[in-house]
Amino acid sequence: MAAQAYAPYSGFAVGAALRGPGPQGYLGVNVENAAYPAGLCAERVALGAFVTAGERELRVVAVAAAGGRDAQPCGVCLQALSEFGDPDVVAQMGGELRVMRLRDLLTAPFTL
Ligand code: THU
Repeated sequence: MAAQAYAPYSGFAVGAALRGPGPQGYLGVNVENAAYPAGLCAERVALGAFVTAGERELRVVAVAAAGGRDAQPCGVCLQALSEFGDPDVVAQMGGELRVMRLRDLLTAPFTL
């Protein structure tokens, strides 16, 4: 899925897949922009599809970068994802595929 990424500036193509309690998967890729801060990470693009479909209970987040490179959700994405639960995060870290809980990666998300 990272093959669909639009990442002409970083060359770092990422795909993300989200799942709630049901079998449906929600996909996203990173969408970069000439105005760099306007770019979106794959996880938040997938989160938009997840929420748009009416899903609210996030169970699994999987992330993969093209070329077998490590990729794990950034701090902004962890905060955004944390709004919908404490999902398992499946990602390659340090060359190994790992499964961690979101709150092990972001121990104290901001809440209102
Ligand atoms: N990126 C993601 O989409 N997800 C990640 O988990 C890590 C980083 C994107 C953001 C930017 O387009 C590029 O990868 C380089 O940081």
